[in-house]
Formats: sequence, structure tokens, C-alpha cells
Amino acid sequence: MGEVFLELKGIKKSFDGVYALKGVNLTVKKGEVHCLAGVNGCGKSTLIKVISGVHAANEGEVYIDGKEMKNFSPMDAIRQGVQVIYQDFAVFPNLTVAENIAMNRNMESSNKLINWKESKKIATEAMAKIGAHMDLDLLVEQLSVANKQMVAICRAILGEAKLLILDEPTTALTAKEVDKLFTIIKNLKEKGIAIVIVTHKIDEVYDIADKLTIIRNGENVASGDIKDFDQPAFVKYMTGRDIVKTNFRPTEIGEEILKVENLTRKGVFNNINFRLQKGEVLGITGLLGSGRGEIGDALFGIAPANSGDIYLHGKKIGIKNIGDAVKHKIAYVPEDRLTQGLFLERSIADNTVAASIKYYFAKGMLQFKEMIDSSDNWIKDLNIVAKSSRPPVKTLSGGNQQKVVIAKWLNTKPELLILNGPTVGVDIGAKSDIHGILHRLAGEGVGIIIISDDLSELVENCNRIIVVNNGKIQAEMNSSDTDEAKLSELLNGKAEQEASR
Ligand SMILES: Nc1ncnc2c1ncn2[C@@H]1O[C@H](COP(=O)(O)OP(=O)(O)OP(=O)(O)O)[C@@H](O)[C@H]1O
Ligand SMILES: [Mg+2]
Repeated sequence: MGEVFLELKGIKKSFDGVYALKGVNLTVKKGEVHCLAGVNGCGKSTLIKVISGVHAANEGEVYIDGKEMKNFSPMDAIRQGVQVIYQDFAVFPNLTVAENIAMNRNMESSNKLINWKESKKIATEAMAKIGAHMDLDLLVEQLSVANKQMVAICRAILGEAKLLILDEPTTALTAKEVDKLFTIIKNLKEKGIAIVIVTHKIDEVYDIADKLTIIRNGENVASGDIKDFDQPAFVKYMTGRDIVKTNFRPTEIGEEILKVENLTRKGVFNNINFRLQKGEVLGITGLLGSGRGEIGDALFGIAPANSGDIYLHGKKIGIKNIGDAVKHKIAYVPEDRLTQGLFLERSIADNTVAASIKYYFAKGMLQFKEMIDSSDNWIKDLNIVAKSSRPPVKTLSGGNQQKVVIAKWLNTKPELLILNGPTVGVDIGAKSDIHGILHRLAGEGVGIIIISDDLSELVENCNRIIVVNNGKIQAEMNSSDTDEAKLSELLNGKAEQEASR
């Protein structure tokens, strides 16, 4: 591995007097993939924003390619060879795909008039690199989360990067897309480019990283070669505790909570049938585009089914819109939390009670103290890193924002709780806490459906799993009869066979 490309010494950064970084050191060499790890809110994204000139550190030194950087802007960092894929992707919703991808290039050439043809050419080149296909003229706001992530990746790999920083780049990607991204990363590494990656998916760390720096609470706790850290040690350094995997296998299955009969949304899913009983957690999985998420959307009335029946506690109910679903005490943690889930400018408390505000009226008045109490309790239960319930949600770290969405829906005291990708972007400790809460709720009689492509999450937390393929139920199984490898084969093997036909 080559010489040092990035060196941080004693970086401190505070927000409103609270230190998010308390003197962090980081050394990254050319041609190395360096994983920056730590639980939600430990300071990873803040550190990245210091490197890329978005935040000025209060104290400490930043050296990039041998040059000490002082009072520098994001443009200065880009000129120094730093390219970043931010956690929220930082794409411009009202520009097209091509404009977004070509943006840095156009800025670098200080070309005030963006050349459309040139932008398209640049974008096509980037897409080809990663093997993605997208309509370049679409506005980015029209794209799915996965495609927004792709746009951000295309933009970053285009620039003449010497240091590529990826802040949770794979949250919305399918396994195949992750493979492609990792192949690109490996190629860049071969060319001597330094890479910093943040991810909460532990398997990915072992897949791609050479070096590891672990941060806890704004301070370094460990660093070194990845091969010197086994998984339990890694997890312990991050969270400060041991996380034990437990498989949720309820012994007592009670009366039926939900029954879905022949549920169909034309062109999306067909004749879906399943039941969910008291004490159970049901998993629904499938590839992106299989219809797995759309079944959740239909049960919550976001995009209702055209035909078929839904029974809740034995009573047939109609769900034509979200209002119907809420009236029937159905809650839904959506997949795209940044746009569907939160009011970023409002406080944690306001967001936590946003879907359950009716519980807080008494004598014609809103009971603010009770609202704050509920929110404080969720902060404790879900380990949300926040000073109190009062700061706006936008000041929270990415993973902690996700936890607020979960709190918001848990706080509605649902009878049926559907979670779409509930722990994407959440650290391994919090993930285990959230799963624990779901097991408890199932035990209390709440119907729970987890829609996910995180196969270990499904096997560990659902006692039954449905696999959706092409809008149809392809298989239904007890989790004790399957494992991740078998599920993966079922999901990907089938798809590959079909593609090669
Ligand atoms: N703009 C801001 N204003 C106030 N506080 C902030 C701001 N940005 C970050 N923080 C705080 O700094 C701390 C570190 O946040 P950061 O986003 O760096 O965490 P992270 O390690 O990236 O977490 P995650 O894994 O959840 O993305 C958190 O307590 C967060 O609330
Ligand atoms: Mg972050």
C-alpha cells in the first residue's frame, strides 16, 4: 500500500456547544479501503463533512495529499481530489439525471453555461462504468431511492478522485448493484485511489475493507488491519456491548389477526394469499421490483389493491387510502424515510407524536408534557442519540432519524404493524434493540410484518417467510426450515435462471 493520502489530527467539532467530535485521528493511505465504523450518532458523517470542507473543524489539522487544508470549501476539497457520496445522496431533485451526474465536471471547468450535450455524454459514460441504466432526462425527484443512490455514485466515480468517500452507499442497492459498486471500488483501489467507506452492514466491511477505524461518542476507540478484528470484537468496540443473535420462534400461536385473500394490484402483484396469527412475525421478501414493497403499500392504502379481500381480526375491512388504514390501527414504517417519514424542521417530539396526536388531547387541549414524555421514552428505548426531545430532527444523525420514524409508528399503538426495511442504516446495537421491541409487541398480540431483503434479519426475526417473485407468492416457509443461503438461492438463483433464458 502506498503513501499517506489523508491525515486527520485531533479533529474537534461542536454543534451548539456539544462536541460531536472530540479529537479524532485518521490516517488513510493510497490504494487502501478504509472502513470508518461506529454506532449511529458517533460522528462518522460529521468527520466526513470536515474532510470534504462542508464543516469547518473547531480544532485539529487536516492534510490531504500532503497539503495542510485550512478554511477550505467543498470546491477546494474537490480540487484536491476528494469525492464524496453523502448519506442523504445530496442530489439536486429539480435537475435531471444527466445534470446531476455531470455537475462536478461542469463546476470544475468553471463553465457557467452547462452544455447539455456534454452533460449527457458524461452521464452516459458514468452509467456505463457502473452498468446502470436510467433515463438521463428524468428529474431526479422522480427517481426511486435506489436510483438516486446510483446517480450519486455515478457523479462521484466520474470525478478524477484521489480519495473517494462513501457514506453508507449501499442502503438502497440490490445485491447485484452492490457487487458492481464493489468491483468499481476494487478497481479504483488498484489504481492507487484511497477509499473511505461507512456502512452498517458488517459483511460488507469484511468484503471490501483493508483497514478499520472505530469511533465511539466522537472519539477513536480502535484502529488497525481488518483481519485483526473478528466480528464479535468489532461489534464490541463499536457498541460497547456483546450482541447475541437470537432466533425468534414463538411457541404459542394464537388466533388470526390478518387474512389476505386474492389481493391483486394489476400489473404489480397477483392473487396474494396469506395469514398472520397472534404471536407471529411474518417476513415478506423478494427482489427489488418483485412487488414485495407494494404489498405493504396496499395494506396501508398508499397504493390500494384493485381486488381481493383483507380481514383484520376476522372482520373484512376496506382499505382505499391511508386514512382507512390508520382508522383500522394499521401502522407502516415506509421504505423511503427521508421523503415519506419525517418533518425534518420539526422537533423529535413533534415527529414522534405526529401519527398519534389524537391521544394527546384532553379537555380540548393538547397535553404537551405527555407528548414530551412519550418522546423521551422512545429516545431511551431506541437509544436515540439526542440532547432531548426538542431539537429538530434534521440535527440528528441519519440512523437516529430512522429511529424517530420507527418511534412515530410504534407510538400509534397499532394492531397491525408493517415495516418496510426497518433497520436499513441502523447500527447493529440499535438493530437488535428494535428487533427486541418487535418480539415483545408480537408477544402482546400485535400483528407484525417485516418486508426486507436483509435475509439474516428475516431468518432471525420472523417465524414464517413469504417469498414474492414477479408479483406472485413463490414460496412460503417456516424460518426453522430455511436459512440465509437457501433463501438467497431461492431469490437470486431463480432470477438468474430466468435472465439467462
Ligand atoms: N447540523 C447539526 N446540528 C446539530 N447537531 C448535529 C448536526 N449534525 C450532526 N449533529 C450531531 O452530531 C452527532 C454525530 O452525528 P453524525 O451524523 O456524524 O453521526 P453518524 O456517525 O454519521 O451516525 P449515523 O450512523 O446515524 O449516520 C450526533 O449527535 C448528531 O445529532
Ligand atoms: Mg451518518
